[in-house]
Amino acid sequence: MSRQPMIAPSLLSADFARLADEVQRVATADWLHVDVMDAHFVPNLTLGLPVVQAIQAVSPIPLDCHLMIEDPERWAPGYAEAGARNVTVHAEACPDPRAVARDLQAAGALAGLAIKPGTPLDAYLDVLTDFDTLLVMTVEPGFGGQSFMPEVLPKVREARRLVATGHLQLFLEVDGGINADTIAEAAEAGADVFVAGSAVYGAADPAAAIAGLRAQAAAARG
Ligand code: DX5
Ligand code: ZN
Repeated sequence: MSRQPMIAPSLLSADFARLADEVQRVATADWLHVDVMDAHFVPNLTLGLPVVQAIQAVSPIPLDCHLMIEDPERWAPGYAEAGARNVTVHAEACPDPRAVARDLQAAGALAGLAIKPGTPLDAYLDVLTDFDTLLVMTVEPGFGGQSFMPEVLPKVREARRLVATGHLQLFLEVDGGINADTIAEAAEAGADVFVAGSAVYGAADPAAAIAGLRAQAAAARG
């Protein structure tokens, strides 16, 4: 496989009263995953653009914004304009994903499409040709600390097959319940970007947790 595995710690599991410090604690990671939740698309509410702008100003690593919000065509480009490396919107919230991808890329970001555990991949194979990242949720979006759902891995395998055969060109990201016990199976299925919230921020030494997860993913991918 071409790409080295990337680890994206999820700030959702950080101490929100000390965000600048918490960002520094994961400076050896590849992307900083920022979960934006609006209390409509998901039941939870987290943070929005002003906080992302503040994080962007101090983060030593690129931001990966995961928008669990309604009306992403209206809000997503702002995150790209703020300087996020990758901005992911949910397919379930998006009547016209191609238009959002275009706007994100025009604003200088990679464009990501996320699918919930119950959302089939097949329905989005056409539009994915316009995206840079596919995020396969491995828990129901909304909260950190949930258990990994291995039953969604066939979608990762299918996406990996389509990338390997040249039909799609995507980062394949998994999000939810990724830790030392689950990262190998996600990597074997073909994921190359691994979001980890509690497994990184819950560790006594986040940098060691990042290095450990990265090594496990690399070994599992062969
Ligand atoms: C869940 C979020 C995840 C979450 C992952 O809706 O999208 O990014 O922070 O947390 P863990 O790794 O603890 O499952
Ligand atoms: Zn997320």
